[in-house]
Amino acid sequence: MTSAYSTDGQYIHPSILNADFMAIGAELDKIASADSVHVDVMDNHFVPNLTFGASMVEQIVERSAIPVDAHLMIENADTQAPLFAEAGAASVTFHLEAAAAPVKLARDLRRKNAQAGVALRPATAVEPLLDIIGEFDMLLIMTVEPGFGGQSFLETMLPKIRRARKAIGEANLEVSIQVDGGVSRETIERCAEAGANVFVAGSAIYRARDAAEEISALRELARAHGAH
Ligand code: DX5
Ligand code: ZN
Repeated sequence: MTSAYSTDGQYIHPSILNADFMAIGAELDKIASADSVHVDVMDNHFVPNLTFGASMVEQIVERSAIPVDAHLMIENADTQAPLFAEAGAASVTFHLEAAAAPVKLARDLRRKNAQAGVALRPATAVEPLLDIIGEFDMLLIMTVEPGFGGQSFLETMLPKIRRARKAIGEANLEVSIQVDGGVSRETIERCAEAGANVFVAGSAIYRARDAAEEISALRELARAHGAH
């Protein structure tokens, strides 16, 4: 699968961080009605947690019915991120804090047929990124400190989403805004109203009684409240 999302819709990306890794095939089947599967790559340096490498991502790409959205919480993004495009991820998002040459890296990713995403930790300002945001398909505004699922949504990130959406609109650019961390039925409306259009949800979906039902409930709330 190659296409991940365009900017003219609302997209639900379940995170498999809190899925049962012993039954990953069945866990992927549960979310086949979503738009992409969000795969959190952690290296125990950029964040204090360790998850998947590029070869595991390649296997998930092969097994998944929907595109893979790789979120890289790793150091040395410049050299590491292209490996995930080569693994077949439809979109590859690296952290601005971990990249020396983000524009060059975005171009490398696009050349390798992946959509290019750039992510910001909660304490990283969006403004310095705005001059180069046209180089990206997606901006990921973290709504928790990256590293773990199941944390509480940071309400203080809503103005940052609003400012980013306004700047992207004023520049007439087509850039998706993804939110990740604490996204649930309680918080998704505010994210959509602020201008986000790609919604990552881990525990909300994997802890739900019925994952498919949760995906459609989240999608409906996002569509009803999205200004974008
Ligand atoms: C956190 C990860 C998230 C995480 C979200 O660092 O980037 O993708 O899985 O989990 P929830 O939705 O439970 O906050
Ligand atoms: Zn993530």
